Amino acid sequence: MNDKPFECDATALQDQLKESIGCQARVECVERLTSTNTVLKRNALESHDKFLLAGQQSSGVGRRGSVWQSPPEGNLYLSYCFHTETSLADLSLLPLAFALAIADRVESEFAVDVKIKWPNDLFVGGKKCGGILLETVSLSGDSAHQRTAVIVGVGINVASHPSYQSIERLTTALQAHVDSPMSLSQVALLVMTAIVEVCRLETTQVRRRLALYWPRRDLLLNLPVRVPMLGDGFGIARGLSLDGGLQVEFRGALETVYAGEVTLGHVESKEGGSA
Ligand code: BTN
Repeated sequence: MNDKPFECDATALQDQLKESIGCQARVECVERLTSTNTVLKRNALESHDKFLLAGQQSSGVGRRGSVWQSPPEGNLYLSYCFHTETSLADLSLLPLAFALAIADRVESEFAVDVKIKWPNDLFVGGKKCGGILLETVSLSGDSAHQRTAVIVGVGINVASHPSYQSIERLTTALQAHVDSPMSLSQVALLVMTAIVEVCRLETTQVRRRLALYWPRRDLLLNLPVRVPMLGDGFGIARGLSLDGGLQVEFRGALETVYAGEVTLGHVESKEGGSA
């Protein structure tokens, strides 16, 4: 354990967001809580346009019900809630777009090569460095105008990462790939900016971005992958489908998967996962 004081200042972050991109979102920083996603989900109705940042989480949640280890060691645990009338089908593209925007910002700020393992795991140096969890809460509304609260949670290993022994996955921390010291506030601001940028896009713009920029970030593209949902053996990952699925050439056919586990086939050990 290498505990670090939680040095994020909500007012400063809020002011910086306003100055740099004219964003009026509220920002709250809490030293310790259960999970930033869970807290925003519970208060979804009154949390529109709100960021919640924590120094540690006692019950951090990852995708597919996994645990997201969240010690007070200078890592990013951040969630944002917004209300929208966008359909659930269109919202399903958002995790991919958030991953793309975060990867772009992190890469240009710190000059590190960031890849994305479908659907939204952030990889640096071939190891998982961060992940995104998108959850929705249905709010009241009539059938024509169904409102949804979207909670996007981002975890990034900034200063530390879980040991291989604890989660049986190879993970890394961003700082290990960058010579100059980085602060948690700096990473938080980058990620917040990326999230707001994506929330301002129309669905057609999201689609265009994914079509143009996903291939360059795609960790799996044209590599052998194991997809248990399709069956035993390897397939070859062939990029994104128009609706955000992963296309896999498997037993001579092009299949599309939308959920479930996908692992790189050419490595012996598990290559990612909850960090
Ligand atoms: C994944 O499994 O890759 C997604 C991990 C998402 C973790 C973040 S940390 C901030 C937010 N709060 C949570 O409990 N989970 C997300």
